[in-house]
Amino acid sequence: MAGVSMQTLNPPNKENMASLPVDTILDNSTTDFDLYIEVNNSLTLYGTSPYKWTKGELTRLLAVGHTTLYYFSADQPKVEVYKKLISIPKIDRSIPPLQRIQNITDTAAELMRILYDYPLTPASLSKGREIADEIVQCVGEDIACVGALGKLANHDYYTYYHSVRMSAYALAVALFLSEKDEERLRELSMGCLFHDIGKSRIELSVINKPGALTEREWQLMRKHPEFGFSMVEQSLLSVVPREVIMHHHERLDGSGYPHGLTEQELLGEVRIAAFADVFDALTSNRAYQVSRTRYEALDLIRFTMLNHLDKKAYRAMVEILGGEGKLKKE
Ligand SMILES: [Fe+2]
Ligand SMILES: [Fe+2]
Repeated sequence: MAGVSMQTLNPPNKENMASLPVDTILDNSTTDFDLYIEVNNSLTLYGTSPYKWTKGELTRLLAVGHTTLYYFSADQPKVEVYKKLISIPKIDRSIPPLQRIQNITDTAAELMRILYDYPLTPASLSKGREIADEIVQCVGEDIACVGALGKLANHDYYTYYHSVRMSAYALAVALFLSEKDEERLRELSMGCLFHDIGKSRIELSVINKPGALTEREWQLMRKHPEFGFSMVEQSLLSVVPREVIMHHHERLDGSGYPHGLTEQELLGEVRIAAFADVFDALTSNRAYQVSRTRYEALDLIRFTMLNHLDKKAYRAMVEILGGEGKLKKE
């Protein structure tokens, strides 16, 4: 993308601006704050938010001596998020899927920490898309890599690791059920990564509460799909991720929330996501629950939840993890 170099009618006063060295901007990253450039001792708007950077453009800027860009000091929180996001390491695709899936979960956990600590920005959504793509690639190369996720033993990590694990399980199921459209897979992955984003509006003390929730706390927790949906309302997120965010707690028999939708009213991706959400929750240690083995979790789903979770997703998961025989021996 070429630089938007246009004369600003009222050049901003440098006193209200802070500087960003050009060599700290990462190629392929998106800045979501307006950036100005100094030309003839005056600041001129260079790139409006959101702005996607390419290596070529950054090299050109430096080559002509523009080593610094400027932003309004009021945008400092956004700049902080940007700096944190670009410090998250890139995934090395030459690593075999069985090990790479661990790197991806660690990377996604870093993103989740940022999502919980800072406001949601276009740059964080863009990073989410990048990670979603890595999960699609990795699970696409070897569905069985989700077997390496095992159970999440430490409940402190659940909040940050749950979404990426759910995303990997959901993709494995979708691929097993013959979904081949990469864009739909990426959308499913995005939906899972951001499905619980609304929980960032709820205090961690409630989310990680070891004992039973009070009625008021429970009511608040049940609002997280709607909180999440409103957080992404103004974003460029497409239908599938929005639906996953809003409806991952719906159940096929209409017993879920927030809208009590039934099987026919839910997208296939949402049904897969809902299954993967429950499966990861059952196999993870959480503040109020010790994890089950995968066999125990699938058994529990089979005997108590198959009226409200997708049966095809359940069968796919059993096969992906090596069939009942193998699971039983774990
Ligand atoms: Fe949820
Ligand atoms: Fe969840």
